[in-house]
Amino acid sequence: MKIFEEIESEVQSYARSFPRVFHKAQGEFLYDEEGNQYLDFLAGAGTLNYGHNNPVMKKALMDYILEDGISHGLDMHTKAKGEFLETFNEVILKPRDLNYVVQFTGPTGANSVEAALKLARNVTGRENIISFTNGFHGVSLGALATTGNSHHRGAAGIGLSGSTRMPYDGYLGDDVDTTAYLEKVLSDSSSGVDKPAAVLVETIQGEGGINAASFEWLRNLEKVCREHDVLLIVDDIQAGCGRSGTFFSFEEVGIKPDIVTLSKSLSGYGLPFAVVLIKPELDQWKPGEHNGTFRGNNLAFVTAKATMNHYWRNDEFSKEILTKGDYIAKRVDEWVMHFGEGNFSAKGRGMFRGINCVNGEIASQITRAAFKKGLIIETSGADDHVVKFLCPLVISMQNLEKGMDIVEESIKEVCAKEDSIPEDTDYFDNVVKMVATR
Ligand SMILES: Cc1ncc(COP(=O)(O)O)c(C=O)c1O
Repeated sequence: MKIFEEIESEVQSYARSFPRVFHKAQGEFLYDEEGNQYLDFLAGAGTLNYGHNNPVMKKALMDYILEDGISHGLDMHTKAKGEFLETFNEVILKPRDLNYVVQFTGPTGANSVEAALKLARNVTGRENIISFTNGFHGVSLGALATTGNSHHRGAAGIGLSGSTRMPYDGYLGDDVDTTAYLEKVLSDSSSGVDKPAAVLVETIQGEGGINAASFEWLRNLEKVCREHDVLLIVDDIQAGCGRSGTFFSFEEVGIKPDIVTLSKSLSGYGLPFAVVLIKPELDQWKPGEHNGTFRGNNLAFVTAKATMNHYWRNDEFSKEILTKGDYIAKRVDEWVMHFGEGNFSAKGRGMFRGINCVNGEIASQITRAAFKKGLIIETSGADDHVVKFLCPLVISMQNLEKGMDIVEESIKEVCAKEDSIPEDTDYFDNVVKMVATR
């Protein structure tokens, strides 16, 4: 359709990777205008964990609309909001022994990150936020200051301040616990790192390349925060809502963040919705200090309530996610053994997984080949070098296998065409060699 070229902005991104006009969607499938079917391993970049037009949420939504339920309510009390809060408390928070109040922010992940950062700064009276290499927290200015990616940062057109970057787990090699470095700089009054208000972390970095932090690293991070009286904010916007295998990605780790951001799959239906979860003693907002016209997306409250009642009242769904996640991991491990000359590697946990293809060119050839075979799948990472599997969590085993088969065929095809696959060299080994040969 020419209209997209004529009057849609050049800022488009996913539309360039998948140049079709999509029209319908159901479960793990998307359909274009001509009726071609595509298996969706992108799922709204983690927004459609329960699939497209999930019948459970669709019914709840249609019933609500048909009875003229409120769709937009600013931040006023509505029946739909009350029922969302009651269900969230009963099904999600209480069974996990989590005591949070819920702040409804503007309905994007970035806006909930903005709110979390503001709150942490105002409560502590400190400005600095510790964020991590390869972290992604959104593209509005405050969130962007904590985001690593230079492509996104470069678009700010203004200095991005208020955050100090620290190396994420594994950034300095497998043997280095980077929380020890954080501990050192926070203990050293001459380190040059201002005492932070908070540490902002993803337990599994999505856009940064599906980097899963070890549980030990996350526990050490929490310890450092507690020792230095620094707040711990977990950005669970992509890793949360079941993607890691549990509702929150930090549950199994056993840490208790002070603040949590949630969005993406929270509504369960692709409807915009974001919240900040706040330990009650930190909820020091004054009325309306952080506001926004679209904080009261009541349609999203209705579908979110339906997801919790249907999927999260027991641990059946979690078990299903872990089984599917293990299957994905098994397939990826096999490919790492058989293709890419041993240079590819497996990444992630739960159903938040990927394969590191060493460079972006190879990864994008694989995703392009997969698209030709009817699979929508994207890359992530600093050089877009990781092919990421973000299929809906509710995908049938049969279609999961089908999607993984398509990726396997695509990898096989691309690797067969390459003279040699570049090695994923350890940055520090290279530095040591460079210094030795000087
Ligand atoms: C971890 C994380 N935080 C924040 C965001 C920003 O969310 P949004 O694009 O809804 O602003 C994203 C988006 O991918 C994300 O993955």
